[in-house]
Amino acid sequence: MKIAILTGGGDCAGLNAAVRAVVVNATRNHDSEVWGVQGGLYGLHEGQFEKLESNFWYKEGFVLERGGTLLKTRVKRLPPEGVEREKFAVECEKVLRSQGFDALVIVGGDITLGMASIISKQNFPVIAIPKTIDNDVLDTESIGFNTALQVGVNAMDRVRTTAMSHDRVIIVEVMGRDAGFLPLSVAIAGGADIALIPEIPYQIEDLIEAIQERKRRDGFVTIVISEAAFPEGVQKNKVGVMGNQRYRGAAHILEENLCDQVHSVRSVILGHVQRGGAPLAFDRIIASRMGVAAVNALKAGKSDIIIGWDGSALTEIPLNKIQSRSLNVESNLVQTAIGLDIFLGKDLKKS
Ligand code: F6P
Repeated sequence: MKIAILTGGGDCAGLNAAVRAVVVNATRNHDSEVWGVQGGLYGLHEGQFEKLESNFWYKEGFVLERGGTLLKTRVKRLPPEGVEREKFAVECEKVLRSQGFDALVIVGGDITLGMASIISKQNFPVIAIPKTIDNDVLDTESIGFNTALQVGVNAMDRVRTTAMSHDRVIIVEVMGRDAGFLPLSVAIAGGADIALIPEIPYQIEDLIEAIQERKRRDGFVTIVISEAAFPEGVQKNKVGVMGNQRYRGAAHILEENLCDQVHSVRSVILGHVQRGGAPLAFDRIIASRMGVAAVNALKAGKSDIIIGWDGSALTEIPLNKIQSRSLNVESNLVQTAIGLDIFLGKDLKKS
């Protein structure tokens, strides 16, 4: 088999482990060739392929501990401005066929996997592997989430000691786009007093009351805020052109809202620190399991599936069911936060 592999969308820790697993299993166990697509879906569209030998990474050092993606990925609007999604995907599929490929393994988040689903509809075999620090691909855990979570928790552990020394309120802004999985997990594992997530727009008066109450009790307060959490009735602040927008200002808006009424408020924005650096063992392992399983699936004649991880085992999700998810207020994660007395931005009993 001649297999193409690409990493698409924003990077995260663990992508290289997935690529390595695909290459090793395909080339050493299944007598197949693997070609890396340079630059994600844009690179595929342009026909940027490079053959990956079974030990290709040694010219760069080792690979399991490497953050980012050796294949590179361009974070640009997808599809390009003025081009239909279907047309772009069909053109990608034509490039694959014209270069003699039998299958595509694609590692990506919801947008990349949405494109993968259209490519697979052209009767081209595709196996998808989910990655995103946001953990927002429906029905699966994703590569990169656990490492980003640990970065957030390490930051909380550091911020807490300085907050305690000065009896301060410290806000930590965490990525995660429109889903609260990452910020709420950072809050739970990092011992935050307050967590503000996109699914629950916060109420300033309720929030100030909760801060004052915790300040009276403990002296200091730590707050985790999602980059996409804004006060009720306030439009979310985004910068960038359509299709390549990002959130900006959540922590600063909150700090400004608080500083007149709460003494000594400071904020920290973690941003891309959560995406970079070496993957934790957990991300290396799920990436390796998914990469090996992707090749085994192709060899078994399967295609058009996402290799998922349900928390205890690998799963196969139909690629055409690709969807993003957000946190349900009834979910165990939210209920755990409530059980831990983490204030979630407004009095949920009132609403
Ligand atoms: O989807 C991953 C993510 O890191 C989000 O958490 C964040 O909103 C976005 O990507 C940032 O994108 P960019 O790297 O283009 O600034």
